[in-house]
Amino acid sequence: MHTVTSISGLRAVSETWRSAGQRIAFVPTMGSLHAGHLQLVKRARALAERVVVSVFVNPTQFGPGEDFESYPRTPEKDVQQLAEQNVDLLFLPSVDIIYPYGVDRAVRIEIPEVSEGLCGDFRPGHFAGVATVVLRLFNLVQPHVALFGEKDYQQLAVIRRMVQDLYLPVEIEGVATVREADGLAMSSRNQYLTDEQRRQAPLLYATLREIAEQVRLQARPYPELEAQGLRQLEQAGFIPDYFSIRHADTLQVVAPGERQCVVLAAARLGKARLIDNVRVQL
Ligand code: PAF
Repeated sequence: MHTVTSISGLRAVSETWRSAGQRIAFVPTMGSLHAGHLQLVKRARALAERVVVSVFVNPTQFGPGEDFESYPRTPEKDVQQLAEQNVDLLFLPSVDIIYPYGVDRAVRIEIPEVSEGLCGDFRPGHFAGVATVVLRLFNLVQPHVALFGEKDYQQLAVIRRMVQDLYLPVEIEGVATVREADGLAMSSRNQYLTDEQRRQAPLLYATLREIAEQVRLQARPYPELEAQGLRQLEQAGFIPDYFSIRHADTLQVVAPGERQCVVLAAARLGKARLIDNVRVQL
């Protein structure tokens, strides 16, 4: 595995591959890698001859008071896991490389509509930070295809919209959420859970599945189902941010009968803010 920190190092390798007609698959990450990331890498391997992974904890997607400073960083373990997956190139840029004019003077990418509501309401500026860094990484790596986990459902929708709206020459591939045996979606932030909270945490996915089943059965009006989801999470000890039934592509509020839906929730449990979702096809 090549490990590069400079733009020239990255370009030298990727241009050799491109001129040999090889496809490049790209997995952007913030490190602290777990089985969910490794699933993205495995899928990347199936889609292209060359796999590039970036590890960059992006300051512009963290709001004031969020966990940028304390975000888990496990660089040696990350390198070892990526080498075991036969990743071709690991890109480890510094903040100065990603934001050459400085974080405060950076060109920012705002994606209207899909960034609004849901996590957008609770993390102002977060999706602009994600879109801003992902566009920069795409321009540097120049991948043919890039992979993102479906756990971050709204993030995936934001990136798809950016790619379509800006005619970016990259395919976006969503990859199914990898879960622990008890259903908890894998996330670097699960490390913030105490043992007791870790035992409660799977109730987020269980509640989403239960409400998704009621959507499938068209059992009750959606606002009632959303209120039930919120109530169940509160009773289980979570502090929910939202529990919402939306259109699977646009993330807009849906009327009953819409065939492509997704049930999404975000809830805090101690220091961790957990998000998850379940798709429903009527
Ligand atoms: O999902 C993540 O880990 C991050 O939001 C991403 C896409 C790597 C951008 O920093």
